[in-house]
Amino acid sequence: MALVSSTPLLETARQGGYCIGAFNVHTLEMLQAVVEAAEETQSPLILQSTVGTVKHLGPDYIAKAALVASNRSSVPIALHLDHCSDFDIIMQCIRAGYTSVMIDASHEEFDVNVAMTRKVVEAARAVGINVEAELGRVGGVEDDIVVDEQHANLADPDECAEFVRLTGVHTLAPAIGTAHGIYKGDPNIDFDRIEQIAARVSVPLVLHGGSGIPDEQVRRCVIAGMSKMNVATELRIVFSNAIKEVFDKNPDENDPRKYMVPAKQALKAAAIEKMRLCGSFGKARDYLQ
Ligand code: 13P
Repeated sequence: MALVSSTPLLETARQGGYCIGAFNVHTLEMLQAVVEAAEETQSPLILQSTVGTVKHLGPDYIAKAALVASNRSSVPIALHLDHCSDFDIIMQCIRAGYTSVMIDASHEEFDVNVAMTRKVVEAARAVGINVEAELGRVGGVEDDIVVDEQHANLADPDECAEFVRLTGVHTLAPAIGTAHGIYKGDPNIDFDRIEQIAARVSVPLVLHGGSGIPDEQVRRCVIAGMSKMNVATELRIVFSNAIKEVFDKNPDENDPRKYMVPAKQALKAAAIEKMRLCGSFGKARDYLQ
C-alpha cells in the first residue's frame, strides 16, 4: 500500500491505548530492517529521518525507498521528518513524498514557536500531512541539535493545551523528562505530567528520547498517554556494533553484504523489542479495518 499519513495511525493508537514505534533510519538496510520488524509483528510503523540524514541521502531517495517498502508491505507505514526548524527543508520533504513532518521551534519563545508551527500546519493541511511540534525542551543530543541540562525544560500542561488550540498541530511532543541519546543514569520521567497533558489535549502525544528508557518506564509512559515513541540512538548502536563484530572476527572483510546482513538482523530484533514495549503487535489490523 502507499505511504499513509501518521495522523490516523496515531489517533487510532491513542484511542486503543498503545504506542507506535517511530524509528530513525540512515541507510537502506536500516529502513528494510525496521520494515521487516513491522511486517513480522504486524505493527503499524513510522519511519523517520533527521535533517542530517535528509542532507546525507536526499529526501527523494529516502521517500522513494520508503514508498517501495510500503508498497511491498501489508502494514501501514508513514514517513516522518524528525526535528526540523527550516521551513524550506520541510517543504522539500513534503514534495518528495514524506507524509508527516516535525517543526521544532522549541528553542524559541512560546509565541514564536506558535507562529512557526502554525505556518507549517497551514501549508501541510491542504495535502493531508501530519505535523508534530515540541513544547518545553527535550535535553540531550539529536543529530546536530544539542540541548544541555541547563536549557532542557519540561512542558507546562496548560501551555500544551493553549499551544494545540492556537496552532492546530496534529501531534505534540511535550518535554516530560526524557532526553535524546543514552542516559548516564535512569531518566527522570514525570509520569503525572504526561497524564495531565494527555487530559488537557485531544491530539496524540509523542515520547522523544526512546533509547535506554527502562522497559517498565516505557510501559508507564504508554499507559500515561504517549502514542508515538521515537527511537534513534539505540538502533544506531545495535546496527554499528553488529558491523564492528564482523570486522573484529574478520578485519579483511570487504563485501558490504556480508556485514550488512548481521547488522540488519540485529536491528530488526531491537526494533521488534521496542514494538513489543509499545504494545503495537498485531495493531496493523486496527487501521486496515
Ligand atoms: P534517542 O536518540 O534518545 O532514541 O531519541 C530519539 C528521538 O527522540 C528522535 O526524535
